[in-house]
Amino acid sequence: MRILLIGATGMLGKALLRKWTGDEVIGLGSAQADIRNPQQVEKSISETKPDWIILAAAYTDVDGCELNPQLAAAVNTRGAVNVATAAARLPAKMLFVSTDYVFDGKKPSPYEIDDPRNPINVYGKTKAEAEERISRILPECSIVRTSWLFGPGGKCFPDTILRLAAGRKEIDVVDDQHGCPTYTFDLADSIVRLCRSGAHGIIHCTNEGECSWHEFACEIVRQAGFDTKIKPTSSEKYVRPAERPRYSVLSASSLARWGLGMRPWQRSLSAYLAERTRDLNTAS
Ligand SMILES: NC(=O)c1ccc[n+]([C@@H]2O[C@H](COP(=O)([O-])OP(=O)(O)OC[C@H]3O[C@@H](n4cnc5c(N)ncnc54)[C@H](OP(=O)(O)O)[C@@H]3O)[C@@H](O)[C@H]2O)c1
Repeated sequence: MRILLIGATGMLGKALLRKWTGDEVIGLGSAQADIRNPQQVEKSISETKPDWIILAAAYTDVDGCELNPQLAAAVNTRGAVNVATAAARLPAKMLFVSTDYVFDGKKPSPYEIDDPRNPINVYGKTKAEAEERISRILPECSIVRTSWLFGPGGKCFPDTILRLAAGRKEIDVVDDQHGCPTYTFDLADSIVRLCRSGAHGIIHCTNEGECSWHEFACEIVRQAGFDTKIKPTSSEKYVRPAERPRYSVLSASSLARWGLGMRPWQRSLSAYLAERTRDLNTAS
């Protein structure tokens, strides 16, 4: 298969480039194709003639989206529509990477794929609208929703906690938002398998288990061997431009329907910390 990976310079894109072996993978960043520009998108797709297009590009700064909704809509919604339109014309199959933030977080149990979208921030709204519009253009497309990504080659929560833990005795972390931490390498493996199985429709794809940011931080310092105290705080005390859903855990049942499952997030965290130590040792 020939794969066109849009967003290859991002955290997930880098994991996909590293994990996707056995097929021809062409990776593009925004310098090669800005998805806001339909001509650039059309040219990249018609020149490469991929079997699958993986759209991992997005404006992912959740607070940035809140402060700059025009840019968020241009990249996350209209950019995704540009890619879907060019994919339909070729035709090529498309996998769109989406988010748990399409939900409002008011459900008391894990979100299923047919739960109604009801985003509460601009980032979630632009991704939810992209899902709806892409599905109309390409009814057979695959929409992979994921959450709380961590991994090498990007800004991620474990790195922030480890940096703070190295210099502080105490760190305040919110304990009233729950989700599923997900390792980019594990997500990349699942995306490869889903494409090879010809997956379509919405699929929730996260590591197994759920936690609050506070519990996630406690596990990070525990596994890294720090004695920094992680103190619980609330979203009210830690106000940011964009509101976050309180509970955005995604159910694994849609992934199981494709014969797949992902390991518990704690095991993936330990794999990431080992990978990180190897990278730091290689760099020094
Ligand atoms: N991070 C998370 O916790 C999280 C959670 C749920 C879902 N997701 C979804 O997962 C996907 C990957 O996220 P990530 O964290 O890996 O993203 P990331 O590290 O922020 O990378 C974003 C990617 O998008 C590209 N991009 C941004 N604007 C673009 C434009 N106008 N045209 C073309 N490319 C553009 C960037 O290219 P350049 O660097 O070359 O500019 C980069 O490759 C996204 O769809 C995101 O919505 C992420």
